[in-house]
Amino acid sequence: MAANAKSFFLGTRIVHGLGAVAGLPGHVKALGGTKAFLCTDKGLTGAGVTERVSGILTAGGVPHVVFDDVPEDPGVATVGTGVELFHAEKCDLMIGMGGGSAMCAGKGIALVAANGGTLTDYEGFNKASKPPFPVIAIPTTAGSGTEVSKVNILTDEARNFKMSFLDERTFPQIALLDGELMEKLPAWPALVAGIDALAHALDAVWSVGATQISDSLAITAAATIFEVLPKAALTGDLAAKQTMLEASSIANIATGTSLPGLAHVLSQPLGRYHMAHGLATGIMLPYTMEFNLPVASHKLAPIARLLGESGSDRELAESILGRLWDMMDEVGLPTSLDPAVVKEEDLPVLVEQCTKVVNYRLNLRFASPADLTALYLKALGKE
Ligand SMILES: [Fe+2]
Repeated sequence: MAANAKSFFLGTRIVHGLGAVAGLPGHVKALGGTKAFLCTDKGLTGAGVTERVSGILTAGGVPHVVFDDVPEDPGVATVGTGVELFHAEKCDLMIGMGGGSAMCAGKGIALVAANGGTLTDYEGFNKASKPPFPVIAIPTTAGSGTEVSKVNILTDEARNFKMSFLDERTFPQIALLDGELMEKLPAWPALVAGIDALAHALDAVWSVGATQISDSLAITAAATIFEVLPKAALTGDLAAKQTMLEASSIANIATGTSLPGLAHVLSQPLGRYHMAHGLATGIMLPYTMEFNLPVASHKLAPIARLLGESGSDRELAESILGRLWDMMDEVGLPTSLDPAVVKEEDLPVLVEQCTKVVNYRLNLRFASPADLTALYLKALGKE
């Protein structure tokens, strides 16, 4: 590709709407699947969602096996067990259903089952020689965005390290977005996922990789999430949950195009405290926005205009920052790091790790190590 040329590619068909899961058997058959592997977690089984989806498959004449052993932060072990079962049951299509953990585990199993070896063989960029088995991704938390992503995050337990797998062939063939499946999702995971979705939109807006395509997706998704997240997470409003699911996918298509800016850089090293990804990213989000205001007001102002506000770019960008603080406060999402967990003496290590994150230099306003330290100190309430 020429130096100035950029590209946009989405390898996933998005099927969306309340009740859309009823069409699942038809999608399996259209993709040539003769036996499906339903990869999910015990939380969804406990909530009755696994049984519901399994029943839809049975009624639609799709043989399948249920694997609901995906833990938080799955990795080599889960994928290894899943691959054995996939082959033993002679499956040929993956349905990954849940949050980022279950969907990424499903994508990993489909990749390794098709290529052989173990998960770690495929860490990095385009390592697989064959495409994975077809994947249908069904998100049930509205946040990770992996249902529309070529990026997969899975853990190598031996190194206590979250590996990244990037391959355009790992876009799921279908993302099935049905808010009905979120009916019993408790408020807390819905909020943690939702603030991660907002961070995907905003990290796309202030990324140096932003394009007209990513901006138009990210700005719309951000405005929608500001409008709908509290209702989607805290009430039983199914229309709001559906809107939030779709906004989360749109946000991730944007950030998958631009690659993410600073909030996702600052949150990555916080994984060492076993803090949920969405929680860590959410805490760092308002501080990141404040840091970016001097250079990104013109990019944030359109979000406020979509929400019906008027004023100068700077006024509107400050209004969006105010909205962010207010919304997080209103729904009970934390906006500070706990100094008992994140010790001030840890900051040099965290900052060093930030500088090694692949998207470290992609934020519109470059953050020096001193800036990164100052941002963590602010989040700790020490500046
Ligand atoms: Fe994220």
